[in-house]
Amino acid sequence: MGVRVKKQRKQKTPRVLIVGFGRVGGALAKGLTKAKWDVAVLPRSQDSVRRAALSGYRLADHDDLRAANLCLLAVPDAQVQNAAELVLEDLGPGTPLVHLSGALTLTAFGQTVIDTKRPLGSLHPLAAISDPADPLQGHTAALAATSPELLAMLERLAATLGMKTIEVPETGRAAYHAGAVLSAGLLVSLADGAVAALQHAGLDREQSLEAMLPLMNSALRGLATRGFAKGLTGPVVRGDVGVVQAHLDSLPAELGSIYRLLSRRTLALVGESLPAETKLALQRILA
Ligand SMILES: NC(=O)c1ccc[n+]([C@@H]2O[C@H](COP(=O)([O-])OP(=O)(O)OC[C@H]3O[C@@H](n4cnc5c(N)ncnc54)[C@H](OP(=O)(O)O)[C@@H]3O)[C@@H](O)[C@H]2O)c1
Repeated sequence: MGVRVKKQRKQKTPRVLIVGFGRVGGALAKGLTKAKWDVAVLPRSQDSVRRAALSGYRLADHDDLRAANLCLLAVPDAQVQNAAELVLEDLGPGTPLVHLSGALTLTAFGQTVIDTKRPLGSLHPLAAISDPADPLQGHTAALAATSPELLAMLERLAATLGMKTIEVPETGRAAYHAGAVLSAGLLVSLADGAVAALQHAGLDREQSLEAMLPLMNSALRGLATRGFAKGLTGPVVRGDVGVVQAHLDSLPAELGSIYRLLSRRTLALVGESLPAETKLALQRILA
């Protein structure tokens, strides 16, 4: 008797339309094209059209819009509704629309789009993408969708790009995005504050940043390897009240406020491991 070989049916990849060819649109087009997904892009300005064509991407025509199984709106948050309404008539009636914003809920597409009853979703890459060449692999994407089928499609897309996924409840959207901003853009602002402290000490700005970046990376490495409490270093962790006081005395007011606020957070993480009187002294000078 011959052995029956069960043929594995390969799931067809969705045809993806990317509206907007900026930083994230470009990064998604790059990643999905590399994975051999069928991608068409719809840039807006002549400059974007030229860049997309030069990079070898297919510029979407009417047929691409009609045949798309998924439409990603890679446009600024304030343009999500406009861009959705712009393509709405030409898309298939059931083509899901997905925005990439961390801050917006699924109502951001506007009532006209919601009334079409098509699936709506969001895929927010937790990555600071300052250039379309930036990698998405290894990052996490926050997903939301109005249907389980769309959620599954977005999970598949994320997995194809080498991204993990989390789901964000609609009601927690703003708090979630505030956290994302704290860990990315505001980390850069913190670096600016750190460099300003070195400049206050008389050092050169460029040289200070060059010295601080590996230090910041080593702190993140400690956090990734040992977690919050064990990954922390610095005078609060050591219970060195005198050094913390000297820092506060030396800094200009604005930097002092940042230092004080963040050190209170550090104390909350490690305070229990300090002698009670040290913890109290730190609480007093950080208040
Ligand atoms: N960059 C990040 O790190 C990051 C990370 C996560 C999520 N996101 C989200 O990703 C989305 C896109 O951000 P981005 O950083 O890629 O922005 P971006 O680099 O400014 O690109 C936006 C693109 O949208 C196009 N556009 C603007 N208005 C449009 C409209 N009405 N119709 C069609 N296209 C329009 C622009 O086209 P022209 O240049 O041709 O005018 C531009 O290329 C946003 O929702 C953002 O919140 C960004």
